[in-house]
Amino acid sequence: MVVVVGSLNMDLVVQVERHPTPGETVLGSDYAMYAGGKGANQAVAAARLLEPGVSKKPGSVRMIGRVGGDGFGDQLREGLRIEGIDIAGVQSLEAPTGVAFISIDKKGQNAIIVSSRANVRFQPQDLQTQVFAGATVLLMQLEAPLPTVRSSAELAQQVGPKLILNAAATLALSREDLSHVDVLVVNELEAAAISQTQPNTPQTALAIAQRLCQLCPAVVITLSQQGAVWADAKGQGHQRSFPVRVVDTTGAGDAFVGALAVSLCEDRGLPEAVRWGCAAGALATTKPGAQPSLPGREEVERMGLQ
Ligand code: RIB
Repeated sequence: MVVVVGSLNMDLVVQVERHPTPGETVLGSDYAMYAGGKGANQAVAAARLLEPGVSKKPGSVRMIGRVGGDGFGDQLREGLRIEGIDIAGVQSLEAPTGVAFISIDKKGQNAIIVSSRANVRFQPQDLQTQVFAGATVLLMQLEAPLPTVRSSAELAQQVGPKLILNAAATLALSREDLSHVDVLVVNELEAAAISQTQPNTPQTALAIAQRLCQLCPAVVITLSQQGAVWADAKGQGHQRSFPVRVVDTTGAGDAFVGALAVSLCEDRGLPEAVRWGCAAGALATTKPGAQPSLPGREEVERMGLQ
């Protein structure tokens, strides 16, 4: 089972010719609303990618997070329920649901501002060890409060799943934080923030990944059009990206992480998990929106064979 502790947001998305610079106003398209939030996106990505027999069993993916007691919260919970995700741990609070304001430029590149609202009311004391029972993999990101992420890692360790941390959005992490993690997944910007080195090329990224392996056993750095690199005790490697026509990059990182989690759940090695991640991430950029763009297993398998 994949357990996800993280955020749920309603994404308000506008297409722009180019992103505004500070102080500038630009005109955009009509806005669209899509279900999002890194936590919820990764839960949906995993649910769509699990083997058909497994994914049809309700509760093969469990989401733990917080929404508001408003229409957005109801829509987000309902969307996850339809995917077969266990939402008993997604409680609603007397606070507005998290909202993400997203602009997409003509290259499909996004800029995101998150107003976390109910997500930041998710406290460590709201967690109990039994929510991690049966987990093979625990997926965490940094849109839930850091103390809650830390507490999830500590409680889950008593049960024993593999801990995957997608360190997004960028936050200062301590050595102690990373010591609980089995697999760290970051993009170029997050890798630069953690390592103080810019991963301009796959070679530099590999060197950073190897260096970060001193802090946790396995590190994956995603590099957009340049694919992803990985390093662990068994070796290191670079997976090239799959060529696609990019429409909207929102959710691509979450598709990557969901696919990586499912691969590791199914006992595939890190190189294959990264290949799957790259295939899922590429497919997610070909459609608008976060959750609507997350691919199914057949699509990823087809692309991964190319
Ligand atoms: O990773 C994409 C997600 O980041 C969006 O869905 C948005 O809600 C923000 O959390």
